[in-house]
Formats: sequence, C-alpha cells, structure tokens
Amino acid sequence: MEKRRISFDLLVFDTLDELSKSEKALMQIAVEARENAYAPYSKFMVGAAILLANDEIVIGNNQENASYPSGLCAERVAIFQAGAKYPKVEIKTIAISVSSKTHIVDRPAAPCGNCRQAIAEYEQKQNSSIAIIMMGASGKIFKCESLEDILPLAFGSSYLK
Ligand code: THU
Repeated sequence: MEKRRISFDLLVFDTLDELSKSEKALMQIAVEARENAYAPYSKFMVGAAILLANDEIVIGNNQENASYPSGLCAERVAIFQAGAKYPKVEIKTIAISVSSKTHIVDRPAAPCGNCRQAIAEYEQKQNSSIAIIMMGASGKIFKCESLEDILPLAFGSSYLK
C-alpha cells in the first residue's frame, strides 16, 4: 500500500489591500455583482467576477427560481457567460464574494461542488490554472492558485476517450 498526501497552499489575506491592484479591482466588481444577485428565497447573495487573458471581465451572480433546482450559482452564471462570449480566451482568475440578507457572513465561501466541477472543465480545456479568490461580507480573504487545489482527483474528459 502506498499512501499519497494531496495538499495545497491556501493564501490568506487580512484585507483587500494585500491583494494586487487588479485582484482588488476584480473583487470589487464581484461585490457589485453580488448586490444584483436574484436570491429572494435563500437571501444568500453571491457575486463572481472573471478576469480573462484579454483583460475583459465577465460577471455573474446567483439566479434563484421558485422551482429551486432551476436556479444557478453565481460562479456558473459567470463562467458559462465567459465560455459563451470568449470561447478561445483563457480564464485567469475568478473572484467570488458572498453575503446574506439575514446574517453577517464573516468568512469566505468556496464554490459548491457543482461549480468546482464546472470551473475544472475550463481549467482542463485551457490547460492552465484558474485562480480563485474568495471573500465574505467581512473577514479574511482566501486565494487558491488553481481550481484543482479544491477539487483534487477531478473527473474530466480524459476518462471519456
Ligand atoms: N450559491 C452560489 O451562487 N455559489 C455557490 O458556490 C454556493 C451557493 C448560491 C445558490 C443559491 O442561490 C444560494 O447561494 C444559496 O445556496
């Protein structure tokens, strides 16, 4: 038996000012996007802002539905839009901001499993890392350098050949 350890470096920042200028700006756009989320049921607001290699920024926010499973998370709204609008442009970074209308979210939230899988698809497609930066309404900011860090052993197209 062989035991393999899978680990990654999570970067933790105390304030937005510790990020690079462009990362801070991207997160501020994610916060703006968050404020336009359509979340009348959960009251949990999520905004995502994606930086592309051509310097374009694509945003998304969660879109809920009275038929709950028909809604979609912010990250997938954003990444599908990036894929639709700029299919040949590399995705560099996704900034994600969360808050709630019912309580203070004082820590970052990482993308849900479905969103991780969706982002992993694009990381594999472009064969380069997509960094994820996460923030709550307050508190510290997390960054991981690659989606793969938070979805190790991901399923992907290589299994379908
Ligand atoms: N949500 C996201 O937008 N992204 C995630 O990664 C987790 C959850 C949304 C979906 C739903 O509208 C609300 O947050 C509560 O689950």
